[in-house]
Formats: sequence, C-alpha cells, structure tokens
Amino acid sequence: MLHIELTSSLHQLSYQLLKRPTNTRSIVQVYFQNFLYPFRFLPFMRFITILQAVLLGALPLLSQAQTTASKPISTDLFGIFFEDINYAADGGLYAELVQNRSFEYAPSDHDGWDALTSWDYLHEGFAMGSVSVESASALHENNPHYVRLRVENPLQKGLGLRNTGFDGIALRAEEKYNFSLWARAQGAAAMPLLVQLRDPKGVVLAEATLQAQGTGWQQYRATLTPTVAVPAASLVVLATGKGVVDLDMVSLLPQKTFHSRPNGLRADLAQSIADLKPKFVRFPGGCLTHGDGLDNLYQWKNTIGPVEQRVAQRNIWGYHQTAGLGYFEYFQFCEDIGAKPLPVVAAGVSCQNSGGTWRVGGIGQQALAPADMAAYTQDVLDLVEWANGPVTSPWGAKRAAAGHPAPFNLEYVGIGNEDKITPEFSSRFQQLYAAVHARYPALKIVGTVGPGPKGEDYDLGWALATQLQVPVVDEHYYERPRWFLSNNRRYDHYDRTHSKVYLGEYASQGNALFNALAEAAYMTGLERNGDVVQLASYAPLLAKEGHTQWNPDLIYFTNTTVAPTVNYYVQQLFGQNQGNTYHAGVVALPTGMATDTTLAASCVRDARTGDVVLKLVNAGPTAQTFPIDLRGFAGLGSAATCTVLTGDKEAKNTLAAPGTVLPKAAPYKAAKRFSYPAAPYSLTIIRVRGKGKGN
Ligand code: AHR
Repeated sequence: MLHIELTSSLHQLSYQLLKRPTNTRSIVQVYFQNFLYPFRFLPFMRFITILQAVLLGALPLLSQAQTTASKPISTDLFGIFFEDINYAADGGLYAELVQNRSFEYAPSDHDGWDALTSWDYLHEGFAMGSVSVESASALHENNPHYVRLRVENPLQKGLGLRNTGFDGIALRAEEKYNFSLWARAQGAAAMPLLVQLRDPKGVVLAEATLQAQGTGWQQYRATLTPTVAVPAASLVVLATGKGVVDLDMVSLLPQKTFHSRPNGLRADLAQSIADLKPKFVRFPGGCLTHGDGLDNLYQWKNTIGPVEQRVAQRNIWGYHQTAGLGYFEYFQFCEDIGAKPLPVVAAGVSCQNSGGTWRVGGIGQQALAPADMAAYTQDVLDLVEWANGPVTSPWGAKRAAAGHPAPFNLEYVGIGNEDKITPEFSSRFQQLYAAVHARYPALKIVGTVGPGPKGEDYDLGWALATQLQVPVVDEHYYERPRWFLSNNRRYDHYDRTHSKVYLGEYASQGNALFNALAEAAYMTGLERNGDVVQLASYAPLLAKEGHTQWNPDLIYFTNTTVAPTVNYYVQQLFGQNQGNTYHAGVVALPTGMATDTTLAASCVRDARTGDVVLKLVNAGPTAQTFPIDLRGFAGLGSAATCTVLTGDKEAKNTLAAPGTVLPKAAPYKAAKRFSYPAAPYSLTIIRVRGKGKGN
C-alpha cells in the first residue's frame, strides 16, 4: 500500500520535474502539493532515505530519456555459503582420502556405524592374530579410540586393515600422495608396517614399509606414487612382524591440494569455488552451526590445532565430521581465494529442529544454561582474537603457532542461524551481541531473522535487530522460481535506516535453467538494493553424488568429477561482475513490458577498472529487446564482452552431461545508446570496458 502511494506520487513528481521548467519555486510547489503531503508526519531524515530508495528502485521503470542516478552499493555483495552437508567437507572439499581415519565413527553418527566402519580386517597368507578397538591410553583425549593389531604369527603376509575411502580412493597417475599414521609398538622390537595402495582387484599400485618402534605414540610418514590412475582404490596397512602394535590417524592426502596446502582442500572442487569470485565465505553453516542439541553446537576451538587433537563429532546431517577442515583451513581458504571470512556462531541455542522437527515432537530449541553463557561468550570473543589479535595475545599466538602470524582481518561475525526467536534465544543473543560489540565495535555483527521470508520469527527477529541496532541481519528463503520473479522488488521498500540485510541462504528449488534465471532476475534486484543488501549467498554449495541430504545445490561432484549446475554459472557471472556503484536509468525493461516479472536488468560500475556491467535477464519464451543508454558515463570505450547463458528452459547440467548449459563469451561493440535483443530464457552480461585502472 505504501509502495503504491509512493510510486504513483513519484511518477507524478518525476513527470512534472522533467517536463516543466525546473525553477526553484515550481520544484518546491510540486514537492509539497504532489508528493510530500502524504508523508507530513514522517521525520525528515527518514523521509529522505525512503525517497532515495524509491527513486533508485523506480528509475529503471521510467523512460530512457530520464535521469541516471547512481549510488554506492556493497562491495561484498555476492559470496558463498559453505556447510558440511551432502558430504561437502569430509569426503568432499577436505582432501583427506581415508574415511574414519581416527576410528571415531559411532552409531550416533549414523545407524550401523562403528569404530571400524570403512575398514576391513585383513589376514592374508594365513596370518594369525586379532584386531580390536581400544581406548585405554589414547593418542589424545580428544581422539579416544585407536586400533590394536595383535600378530600371533604373521606367516607370509601379516595382518592388518584396509580402508575403502569415501566410495573408494580416487588416485591420479604419477601424483604423489602423503601417507601418515600414528603408531605405538608394544615391545622392544620394531614392528614392520607394510603400506600399500591397491586397485579393486588387489593389484598393488604403490607401497612403502615403515618400522614402528619406541615406547609411545609416534607419527610415521611415507610418500606413495601410483603409476596408473584408479578411480576407486583402497589403502592397506599390514603389520608383518610378530607382536602388538597400536594404530591411529591413518591418513592419505594428495600433495596436490588447492594452493599446495598441507592438510588442504581438494584442488578441483576448491578451484570451482574460487572461480565464483566470492567476496566472502560463510562457515560452518547452516544448521550445522547451532547443531542437533547443545552437545552438538559447532565449537570453533575444537577445530583448530593438530588434526589428531581436534574433536570429531556427529554431523547434524546424519554422518560424521572430523573437523579436519576446521577454522584454520577455512580462514586460509578465504585468504587463498581473496574472500572475506564470515564465520557464524551459535547464539547459545541449538537448532529448533533438534531431535527431529520441533513441530512433530522433536526436543526443539535447547538453550545453554545462564551459568554457561559467560564461558560461551568468551569462546566467541576468543574467535575474534584468534582471527585478528596480535601474536602477543593468547589466541593470536595460537594462530601464529599454526603458521599464520598475520591477522586474518575478520570484519564480520554472524550470531545465530535462522533460530526460532524465543525469549531464551533473545536473551542469549543480546548477551553475545553486547559483549562482542563492546569489545570489537568495528566488527559487523550479523543477527538472524528466522528461516523464511516472512512470519513470526522474521517479525520478531527484525524487531530485536532494530531494537539493538544490529548492523546486518541474515534472511533465509527457499522458494519457487515464480516467487523470486514476482518478489524482485522486495528490498526496494526496506527501510534504509534499519539493519542491512545478509541474504544468507536462498535457492529457487531446482537446477533447471529457468530456476537459475529466476535467481539471476532476483540478483539484479539485490544489486539495485545493494545499499541495503550487504551480502548474499546461494545455499547449499556442494553435494556429493550418493550422499545428498538436500537438493538443489550449486555444485555436484563425485570423487573424480565436478559438475557445476546452471545456477552455479549465474552465481559465477554475478560474482565475476560485481560493482561498487549501482546506476539506475541506464538499462530499461523492453518497451511496454515494465510489469512483466520474467524480465529484469541492472547496471553496476566497477571503480577498480572503470568497467560498466549490464545484466539482462529474459526468463520468458520470446526474445526481448532492452534499450541501453550509456551517455551518462564518462571514460567509457566501446570495447565490450558479451556473455550469454541460454538454452532450453528445463535444461540442467548433470554429472553425466555437465556442459549442457554453459556461458558463452564473445567480444562486443557497445554504442552510447543501443538496444540489445535478449534471447528467450537467457542471462546476458555486457561488460563495457572503462578507461580506468586496469584497462
Ligand atoms: O542450506 C541447508 C539448510 O537450510 C541450512 O543448514 C539451514 O540453515 C537451512 O534450513
């Protein structure tokens, strides 16, 4: 209602301002008679911000001859959401190839799992002995289980274990793999350990022999180099002498990880993420952040330090998280890809769906006892110190000890993940917010406003954020493509004096081209509102074939392939073409189509290069011509690149056919004024090169 009044008043105002001589008296008259009167009770500054928002939102609808207005927009707008769902971390982005390397799997992770899941007992050549899972004197208290091999008689080949990885271990020919394990020989004599990579038929691809000796736990290493590629190999460790030996943390990592980081990330998957050019990376989720009950909250301190000392835990999505990809690896990845970290911590409450959906009788949201909040609050403060503190600070020293003395320059921290806004949540959020804000006033704290685009939690969350003046709030919604098309103007009406928005999770419930175009159209609206939308990330990011708990996702993968969806290419095109000012009135919707929600467009400028980027979305079945007017820009040449993503409305990229819909780029010559015919079902990016830096 407010929008209709404002928009119709604006049309009157702009018409009269533009068609009549612009002397001061007539402007003031028009202002008071036609426009200001309905808002006579609004405070002046509030009125000005609303007017600015409406002007900038409505200008694309006006005719081309009208004015061009620009405004600064967020320079962090498009980023990514990472959560260990769908085997995104263990078995996915984390490059570890051994599954259950520390014998910590348990039935609570997943029905039927135990400490020997993914391991087979091998007694080849008639060896005699036994294997048992022990915990009497563990490698570390955080890593309580290990395996004991008792070799009564090794006979020809010894006895031991075989690990089959995550659906097999994918090996590349002539590449080096770092094998390591912790072992403790019981007895004075050394225990020979034969380590082998084998193909599915048992053929040995590479091997090494280690001698475990000494009294305590020690780490042993070897490099294995298979000469042939095998998509589903296994790793074998055999004790070939008589005696007893304990084993733990049996690990195999490729040397070729992303940026060659030790304990690093799978290079091809990490590269596909880097290619999105995300401005930020949210971590560790999602529901994983606030967990399935209080014991399952994601505790960042459990995920740093030597991997054998980290605390593994049950993954809320029904499997196991080793924390091998922990906070250090996350921050380092952000640095490697030039993205800002955006860690999200639980707000002192667990997921409202703990123990099953609360609506159907789950235990619901659990809250930390008030007495536990001081320690928890300190943990959150320590996270900021660990990221940014000097090496002389207690937590900055731990970062330095891990190999990163320079601060990570953390700018954002999220508190809470789409929590139910209960009194328990609100009091804990306030406590955390107050403590972090008091200690780190420059940090941009991101609050939370529930799991949907509206409703009780949205209203209560926004009211709380407004009351506390939280800098940014996190909105989540998974809706149909038509919802995204018809809600393109959602943020045009947001109050610019309130919290900014992080659209932390969104997706249009499908991976067809039409879904991706609906998201693209919506993203033009995010750019147009980049003064109030600070950050946005599609969710979820990764999904492993055969282990997918949530669809749709942005990137599907197996152990050997990566299949970015069409939605991925939309995210990539927006990510690679971000700007820092938004320009209204440059590209208009096709004549007579102003109310057609399948059409959308935006224009941003990248100050770094001076380039102007036009994004045109046609999510309808007929070609549409967008008029473009670049006359308002100084320092712009005609050289441009035009990139088009188009195809059949229902087309998808799959693991079997990953290249069904791909963006195609070609040189383009832009004019000061021109029309661009956008193909049916297409996203077009026209990047006109500026004469600024970098060009
Ligand atoms: O993105 C998948 C899940 O959706 C997230 O974990 C949760 O925050 C949301 O409900």
